[in-house]
Amino acid sequence: MNASQSSPAPTAAKPAEGHSLYGGVTNRRVTVRDLAAAKQRGERWAMLTAYDALTANVFDQAGIPVLLVGDSAGNCHLGYETTVPVTMDEMVMLSAAVVRGTERALVIGDMPFGSYQESPAQALRNAARLMKEAGVHAVKLEGGERSARTIELLTEAGVPVMAHIGLTPQSVHALGGYPVQGRGDEAAHKLQRDAKAVQQAGAFAVVLEAVPAELAAQVSESLAVPTVGIGAGAGCDAQVLVWTDMAGMTAGRVPKFVKQYADLRAVLGQAAREYADEVREGSFPAPEHTFK
Ligand code: KIV
Repeated sequence: MNASQSSPAPTAAKPAEGHSLYGGVTNRRVTVRDLAAAKQRGERWAMLTAYDALTANVFDQAGIPVLLVGDSAGNCHLGYETTVPVTMDEMVMLSAAVVRGTERALVIGDMPFGSYQESPAQALRNAARLMKEAGVHAVKLEGGERSARTIELLTEAGVPVMAHIGLTPQSVHALGGYPVQGRGDEAAHKLQRDAKAVQQAGAFAVVLEAVPAELAAQVSESLAVPTVGIGAGAGCDAQVLVWTDMAGMTAGRVPKFVKQYADLRAVLGQAAREYADEVREGSFPAPEHTFK
């Protein structure tokens, strides 16, 4: 089911004044070429994660041009502690739902841990699953120089690849947590080499996660392809947030780089409590909710 079928007919996303990425392509999907053109124009854009058709439809209609079916689904949607346990079957299922719920956003499917590190051939097999079975328009994978050969093979095969460098959450156990990356000369040079390597390999965009703002701005200026920052300051070409963090659905503390634009957890909890109270006291269902 297309999520839009169960709600009022989708209206074209309202373009923000002067933002042609949002306003110029309302009757077709955003493409990687649109993102390249936005970099040329110096136009910033927003990416959000999404893990289901309903939420994806809300973001699509809000005019978010790029949706990432992140493997953050592991800890933000599926109840795992980290992204590590997420499987290809889970990513295919979630990505297909997001594609079904959207009409104009470019949908990127994340390659989960263990689905691409073995060999470029394994990566291509799994990227093809995301494209053929889920219908995503691009994939994302973690790693800089270490993933360059894989990115090259995928892009040669016609798979648009978003690279992800800096903090790579699939390496949480090797890193001993989620530390900021790129601090100090050696680490900064490593990040710059990673960025160049993935661009050279054909990546159409690069996520920079948990990187000092000044370094992220330098990398963004040095690349021809757009950078997408998360915890990487305002100097990136685009920004991404995990939707459950951004909308206040996450329980407990969120990372310093998150801005909460809503408090959905409180709103939903309150709605559930009111519903349960009304059922208990017998005021729901009322006559207007009842068939004669
Ligand atoms: O999995 C994810 O949501 C991500 C973003 C945080 C970039 O990789």
